[in-house]
Amino acid sequence: MANKNSNLGAARMNKNDEFYTQFSDIQMEVNAYLEYDPDVFRGKTILLPCDDPEWSNFTKFFAQNFENFGLKRLISTSYAVESKKYKNWEPTLFETEAPQYDEDKSKTHGKIFTLDRDTNNSGKVDIEDLEWRYLEGDGDFRSEEVKALRDESDIIVTNPPFSLFREFVAWIMEANKRFLIIGNINCVTYKEIFPLIRDNRIWTGCRFNKRVNGKNMTFLVPDSYELTGTELYTDESGKKFISVAGTGWFTNLDHGRRHEPIQLMTMADNIKFSKHKEVKGHQYNHYENYDGIDVPFADAIPSDYEGIMGVPISWIDKYCPEQFEIIGSGSGYLGQSIGITGIPKEHKKMMRGHSAAGDLYMMVDGMPQVPYSRILIRKKK
Ligand SMILES: C[S@@+](CC[C@H](N)C(=O)[O-])C[C@H]1O[C@@H](n2cnc3c(N)ncnc32)[C@H](O)[C@@H]1O
Repeated sequence: MANKNSNLGAARMNKNDEFYTQFSDIQMEVNAYLEYDPDVFRGKTILLPCDDPEWSNFTKFFAQNFENFGLKRLISTSYAVESKKYKNWEPTLFETEAPQYDEDKSKTHGKIFTLDRDTNNSGKVDIEDLEWRYLEGDGDFRSEEVKALRDESDIIVTNPPFSLFREFVAWIMEANKRFLIIGNINCVTYKEIFPLIRDNRIWTGCRFNKRVNGKNMTFLVPDSYELTGTELYTDESGKKFISVAGTGWFTNLDHGRRHEPIQLMTMADNIKFSKHKEVKGHQYNHYENYDGIDVPFADAIPSDYEGIMGVPISWIDKYCPEQFEIIGSGSGYLGQSIGITGIPKEHKKMMRGHSAAGDLYMMVDGMPQVPYSRILIRKKK
C-alpha cells in the first residue's frame, strides 16, 4: 500500500493518458546523467515513443540538443487520435500545412518524426531538420512497426501511458535497452517491476517522489480535461496543469545521486535522539512472521543493525546499492515468495483492516498490526 496521495495521483494518471511533461523537468533530469557521464548519449539513437511532438517537449528537447549531445539519430512516434482514450484532438497547423497531410490518415495513423541530418543546409542539425510521415499503423508501441524502431535504437525516453506501465517496461526489457521513463511510486510494488528493482536492473532516477519549489511533478493537460482538486491549476497564460504526487523517473542509466549513501545514526542514537515520536524512546518492533525489524522512516534506519529491516517504499529513491541490498518485498505474493509466513488465526481475528497472505505483521501495544508496504533490506558488508 502506498500513501493516499500517490494512490490518487496514480488513479488519475490511469484514467487519463494525456499528461505532457514539462521541458524543465526533462532538462533537469537529463542533466544529471550528463553530469555523471558527458558521453551518455554520444553516437546513440534515441527513440521517443508514445510522444506527440506537436504537444510534447521530449522531441523539442532532444532535437535542440542533437549536436550538443552528439546524437546519431532521433526518432519519435505519436499515437493516432482515434486510438487514444481522449479523442478531442484537432490536427495542428504544423500537420495540415505540410504537403504530406492526409485528412483520413491524420485520425487513424500514428506519425514518425526523424532527425539525423542537416536537411535545410543551415550548417547545423536542429529542430528545423525534423522530417515526418504517417506510420503504417496507429503508433501503438506494441506494434511490429514501433518494435522495429525500438530494436534499432539505443535509449528509449518517454512518459508512457500510465495504465500500460508494466507492459511498457516489459517491452523495453525484452529488447534489453537503456531507458529513462516517468512512472509513479506505486509501480515499485508491482510484482513485475519489483524484481527488476531488487536485482538492480532498473532504479529510480534523479527526481523521484520529490516536491520541487513546493510542488509535486507537474504535467500539462489538454484545456478541456475535466480534472478537479488542489492538484489542478492554470498558469498565467491559461495553460492547464496537474501536479501528481509520488511521480518521478525510472531508469537504467547511471547517475551520481544513486551512489551517495544516506547518513544514519546507530540504533541507540535513534532511540535517544530521533525526531520521530514513533522511534524516540521505543525499541524497534520485530516482525512476528519474518526475521527482521520494522523501520517506519528511512532516516531512522539504524546504521549498526546487521539483520533484515523493513523500510517504507518511499526509501527507494535513497537506495544506494553500495550501502544496502534489497532482499524482497513485505507484502502479498512477493512476501510469500521470500518466506513471510501466514498470520495465525488468533492474531488475524484481532486485526482491523485488510491483510493478505505474505504481508508482514508485528505486535504494537499488544495488538497485531500490518505496516504500510515495506521493502526488506540489509546493510552491505
Ligand atoms: C503520459 S502521455 C505522455 C506524452 C509525452 N510523451 C510527454 O510526456 O509529453 C502518454 C501518451 O501515450 C499515448 N498512448 C496511449 N496508449 C498508447 C499505446 N498503446 N502506444 C503508444 N502510445 C500510447 C497517449 O495517447 C499519450 O499521448
